[in-house]
Amino acid sequence: MAAAAQLRPDIYLPTCPNAESIVRGVMKKALIREPRSVASVMRLQFHDCFVNESLEEVCPGLVSCADIIIMAARDAVALTGGPDWKVKLGRLDSLSPWLEESNEIMPSPRSNASYLIDLFNKFNLSVEDLVALSGTHSIGQARCFSIMFRLYNQSGTGRPDPAIEPKYRAKLNKLCPTNVDQNVTGDLDATPRVFDNQYFKDLVAGRGFLNSDQTLYTFTQTRSFVELFSKDQSVFFQAVVNGMLKLGDLQNNQPGEIRSNCRVVNNRGIKSLTLGGYQRS
Ligand code: HEM
Repeated sequence: MAAAAQLRPDIYLPTCPNAESIVRGVMKKALIREPRSVASVMRLQFHDCFVNESLEEVCPGLVSCADIIIMAARDAVALTGGPDWKVKLGRLDSLSPWLEESNEIMPSPRSNASYLIDLFNKFNLSVEDLVALSGTHSIGQARCFSIMFRLYNQSGTGRPDPAIEPKYRAKLNKLCPTNVDQNVTGDLDATPRVFDNQYFKDLVAGRGFLNSDQTLYTFTQTRSFVELFSKDQSVFFQAVVNGMLKLGDLQNNQPGEIRSNCRVVNNRGIKSLTLGGYQRS
């Protein structure tokens, strides 16, 4: 997660005025080349980091990776038919690798709604935020690996999750038989290339792919939001924008830097490491 900094929409106007249009252009090309790639990038807002070489060419060392992810995730939603919104920028990248941190907070696909409510609550994200943000699974895919337990041994019962609608379960069993290569992927909802409220309609019909998805309908506390979003796409869109903005506001208070390669922290001597990074002026 990025270091604390003052966030505002036009922060790159003086230094890299084309930052947002460059990110959107790269995402457009990615969508044409490989439709799933924008979903994978979007997941990064929750999780990880990637390199945007186009920005490095035009604005070397000026735009943080954390901000690129925030812009790219928004673009993934907007370019696949979802809402568009203004993002706040000015994050710095953390001075330590992100993987350990993000793995710690990354919820497992086995999670149930009550665990997810508590987890999101720790980050001041509400039950509505949880359901709306899970609605980003309206685009993209997941691996058989993430649902094998659900199909064959839910909670150690040796049985499938009873919440899966039988015809959908037959489909998933065919996609992910017990001897499958667990890297085989399936769609997270019935319209995996379109950002819409189909995901919620699927949950109501018992056709959620991940356990963490279907549990949002099984649990009473989250069910009313699933029902609401399944009936009214514009309410879902507003809620997901609110949730994404809140997610984007989460920061820790460590010093940061602008990484030149998003995958690794910048190279620096031990002395400057102990002094910490710089703060944006
Ligand atoms: C509520 C807790 C969440 C859980 C338990 C969860 C879990 C997962 C899992 C297990 C996968 C598939 C990984 C695989 O099998 O390869 C996945 C995919 C995905 N997640 Fe989540 N996720 C959650 C929230 C979010 C949020 C908040 C976002 C966006 C801000 C998000 C965006 C995505 C996207 C777009 C994909 C598809 C990626 C692709 O097609 O490559 N998820 N998620």
